[in-house]
Amino acid sequence: MNGTYRAIWLCKNETLEVIDQRSLPHRYETMELHNTEETVFAIKEMVVRGAGTIGCVAAFGIYLAAQESQGEWEALKTYAARIRASRPTAVNLMWAVDRMMAILKDSDDYVADARREAIVISDEESQRTQAIGTYGGDLIEQIYKSTGHRTVNLLTHCNAGWLAVVNDGTALAPVYEAHKRGIDIHVWVDETRPRNQGASLTAWELKQAGIAHTIIADNTGGHLMQHGMVDLVVTGADRVTRQGDAANKIGTYLKALAAKANSVPFYVALPASTFDFDIIDGVKEIEIEERSEDEVHFMHGMLDDGTEARVRVTPEHSHALNIGFDVTPHHLITGLITERGVCDATLEAVETMFEDLL
Ligand code: MRU
Repeated sequence: MNGTYRAIWLCKNETLEVIDQRSLPHRYETMELHNTEETVFAIKEMVVRGAGTIGCVAAFGIYLAAQESQGEWEALKTYAARIRASRPTAVNLMWAVDRMMAILKDSDDYVADARREAIVISDEESQRTQAIGTYGGDLIEQIYKSTGHRTVNLLTHCNAGWLAVVNDGTALAPVYEAHKRGIDIHVWVDETRPRNQGASLTAWELKQAGIAHTIIADNTGGHLMQHGMVDLVVTGADRVTRQGDAANKIGTYLKALAAKANSVPFYVALPASTFDFDIIDGVKEIEIEERSEDEVHFMHGMLDDGTEARVRVTPEHSHALNIGFDVTPHHLITGLITERGVCDATLEAVETMFEDLL
């Protein structure tokens, strides 16, 4: 399983092809991105989503922008600024654009150098997720051994699999690794309203991989934890501060509170590209995306006759609030699963493990 699938790839005609995640799980469709405008659309409208994938698409978006700007630095800077502003919370987006532009600043050939660097970025991200899989897999294996080889029940929120982070995902990388090691694992999949990334995408990924899973309504996790039905929680992240506060899909914080109250270990899996070392207090300092209230009013799915439909689930004229992310404070996090190992969610531990990147 690990490393088998990619959510994005460069085509022979030098455009970027991406899986259109809006169509899953009912249809597998791809979209070709040719320029800045299409890159911005794909990120904003969540054709592609998940912090890691957004970062890699942004890197290739700069490559497309380099083609479009025809050697004009000012034009390239304008395109880069548009891509950088396409979504606010996932820091991988800003990290990737800034890294690309730092390389291109001193380049004689924007197109060739942008192509090379975007490939390096996605290959490096892919290697990071493999290491996250190994370290997280070790944690799962310890639980498996300590319980005398009974099924390990892991709860996850949103989608942090290979669709979300090139190549193995973050929260799901340890799950894939555990499955590969022959560990009996079962995943509780939070549906993740309003856009249902868990029910639609995580469940789809796990089904493809033949991994046992059960989709649960978002409010079910606390009850399962009270009844000893969750061994650990692992989520991904969109931005993690220097002291280990983690922004992730809305609802993650409530799972962390429930986990703390029930002594269930709560891990956040992330590559270094998801750290924002410039900020400390995530609740105060992380910009949280607010999206259209229509995502709360309407659900998209398949009718009994197999046709797809968008249906309203709220009364007409009621207002809705759609906050995309929340921040789990570091004291609720048991550990950060990174490509360098499992790190305490504290300022000291993060600064020690990532000293060279500060
Ligand atoms: O709004 P999304 O679907 O892009 O949000 C994605 C998440 O919150 C994921 O859990 C997160 O990106 C972790 S996987 C890198």
